Amino acid sequence: MKSFSLHLSGGDAGDWEDPRLEIRPARVGDVPAIFELIRTFADRKLMIKRSLGELYESIREFQVAVDADDRVLGCAALHVFWADLAELKCLAVAEAAQGRGIGRALIEACGREARGLGISSVFTLTYVAEIFEKSGYRKIDKSELPHKIWNECVRCPLFPSCNEIALIWTDADHVETGVHELAGATN
Ligand SMILES: CC(C)(COP(=O)(O)OP(=O)(O)OC[C@H]1O[C@@H](n2cnc3c(N)ncnc32)[C@H](O)[C@@H]1OP(=O)(O)O)[C@@H](O)C(=O)NCCC(=O)NCCS
Repeated sequence: MKSFSLHLSGGDAGDWEDPRLEIRPARVGDVPAIFELIRTFADRKLMIKRSLGELYESIREFQVAVDADDRVLGCAALHVFWADLAELKCLAVAEAAQGRGIGRALIEACGREARGLGISSVFTLTYVAEIFEKSGYRKIDKSELPHKIWNECVRCPLFPSCNEIALIWTDADHVETGVHELAGATN
């Protein structure tokens, strides 16, 4: 399988540099802000809504982008499915902060986390394929993904006829692992 690399060089924020902003693991105190951020876009049917309880339970999956006053401007989550597969989800950047590279920095932070965990492939389902392609993901047919990943889609107001695009990134250090080898994730 062809390999794809993220811009993983440099410090915690990869190639992204803005001294006023920081990407860091989320804390429970960030949950209300993450909830509001996702709700804004979920109301427009761009994302799946997340409850506060769900966010607290999965807080360790989240990275946030914060400003100098530690206000949350963006978030993304990495959910592990199997030994070699994770999903990047809940990517959102506040409208006022969009266009500054925060979304891409969050994608790359999740990529670094996946690499640190030893996970070879990260997929995502999105309406905004361009930003992922610019971060080293490539489009794949949804049918290539294990059935297990569709559990959450049942909750989406657009299920089953959404037009989300599936994309995947594969760590260059694990080029031998392909999505076709992810059948174990259906167990
Ligand atoms: C999609 C989203 C996360 C992008 O965040 P952002 O911080 O504005 O993105 P960035 O500034 O990091 O953009 C990085 C690159 O992707 C491109 N990009 C970002 N959003 C794009 C879009 N909607 N369409 C096409 N390209 C886009 C940018 O032009 C930029 O390209 P460049 O590096 O060549 O200049 C943000 O618009 C958002 O939160 N949208 C609503 C929620 C959503 O749709 N989430 C994604 C799927 S779950």
